[in-house]
Amino acid sequence: MSDDILIQNEASNDMTVAARDLVKRFGQLKVLDGLTICIPRGTTYCLLGPNGSGKTTFIRSIVGLIRLDGGEMEVLGRPISRVREIISRIGYMTQHKALYPDLTLQENMEFYASLYGIKGARRRARIDELLEMVDLEDHRRRLAGDLSGGMYQRLSLACTLIHDPDLLLLDEPTVGVDPRLRRTFWEYFESLTDGGATILITTHLMDEAEKCRIVGYMKAGRLEAEGSPVAIKRLAGLRPSIRLWVDDSKATADLLASSGFEVIESGDALDVFLDSFNDARTVLDLARPRDLKLVEPTLEEAFLRLSDIGRGG
Ligand SMILES: Nc1ncnc2c1ncn2[C@@H]1O[C@H](COP(=O)(O)OP(=O)(O)OP(=O)(O)O)[C@@H](O)[C@H]1O
Ligand SMILES: [Mg+2]
Repeated sequence: MSDDILIQNEASNDMTVAARDLVKRFGQLKVLDGLTICIPRGTTYCLLGPNGSGKTTFIRSIVGLIRLDGGEMEVLGRPISRVREIISRIGYMTQHKALYPDLTLQENMEFYASLYGIKGARRRARIDELLEMVDLEDHRRRLAGDLSGGMYQRLSLACTLIHDPDLLLLDEPTVGVDPRLRRTFWEYFESLTDGGATILITTHLMDEAEKCRIVGYMKAGRLEAEGSPVAIKRLAGLRPSIRLWVDDSKATADLLASSGFEVIESGDALDVFLDSFNDARTVLDLARPRDLKLVEPTLEEAFLRLSDIGRGG
């Protein structure tokens, strides 16, 4: 049952971001519409949601780049009106290009380091470490404007991390990054949260969302669902199933149905839906299959279900 439990009621004093009833309008458009969301310290929290659901707007509000029309928010223990005091503890990688195209990789990193007062040997060591992490050491003399899309993303991440922030806001950081480097990024993210940092990330890649401890699904400026990746699937109405290959499909399907299981015939196999994988044992004892496969629904299915709800879909 533990995988079905929603993550909630975390101790509020351990929240890196605590936001309540946020409202933001752009003209007639209400982009944040009563958004309430908490990001616990030391967590990787993934924001999912359709294009235009307000994810970037929320992230921008955390760093004070947009003025909210309503609601309350605390970031790293400060009210949002005083976020300037702790801005040096935040790293923000924007969804859009934010580096200087006419500076080299090295110079871009030096510039970001200087913004945070990082100098001398410490600066050199940090730049070397991060360029190695994003696998760009051999390109440090190239102009940022000449980089490929994925390389540019990698440099942006390195610049965002230069001052070792406590809160990392990463808006689609891995767009265009190849699978090997994406894996390196995620390993690095894990080491950062192990060290106590908090990461708020947006992505449209469901395999990345699966790696996060908490997933929040935003729709039309509100948080519609929140929990572990498994809990989100359950909230979307998706259950695990077990595919069985048996000798007598009809008799087995009847037996399982009479024991309260939902069974669907699927070609030469039976799909039996479970409330949780803990029920698998009972199903196997009843059906005694020749072969079987456990099937966990994907987060992508959950995303599609959640985005269809309310559209009559
Ligand atoms: N400065 C602005 N002025 C007017 N409208 C804006 C502004 N910024 C965002 N919007 C609108 O607010 C809505 C939410 O945008 P936002 O960028 O927060 O969405 P998102 O969830 O990040 O989407 P995506 O997945 O495409 O990145 C969109 O309709 C967008 O056009
Ligand atoms: Mg966005």
